[in-house]
Amino acid sequence: MIQLTYASRPFGFDDAMLAGVLMDARRCNTRDGVTGLLICRADLYLQLLEGPEAVVEATYRRIAADDRHMDLALLTRRTVTDRLFPNWAMRDDPARSWLWTKAEVDDGALTRASEAEILAVFERIAAGG
Ligand SMILES: Cc1cc2nc3c(=O)[nH]c(=O)nc-3n(C[C@H](O)[C@H](O)[C@H](O)COP(=O)(O)O)c2cc1C
Repeated sequence: MIQLTYASRPFGFDDAMLAGVLMDARRCNTRDGVTGLLICRADLYLQLLEGPEAVVEATYRRIAADDRHMDLALLTRRTVTDRLFPNWAMRDDPARSWLWTKAEVDDGALTRASEAEILAVFERIAAGG
């Protein structure tokens, strides 16, 4: 199995668009055996995808071509044996207060963050933080 994370900038973010994104994600992920988490904020998507390598790669390619966001940056990619979000076709989560602020994101905080710092965000939420 592989796990990857990326960040992107929403294009035309509102409740209806987010609901549409999540509906598409859950429909496809249930079909494909992909699970994960999507952190959603007006200025930021931060997503973790996990599952069999070929389907996760195909999913990421479709996501990368989606015009509901832009400026995708792949942040981490690794082989894993366990899922962080096994029961979620795609969990959605509003950005937490402890996450990088919009100003920090605009300033490149995500591209400067280490893989461990990126993964810690998802691990903290998976652990109930
Ligand atoms: C931020 C964001 C996250 C998405 N997450 C997923 C996802 O987890 N799985 C997925 O299959 N599609 C996801 N999508 C939707 C895909 O881009 C695409 O619309 C969907 O896979 C259907 O593809 P198709 O129309 O080519 O069949 C996401 C889109 C956006 C904008």
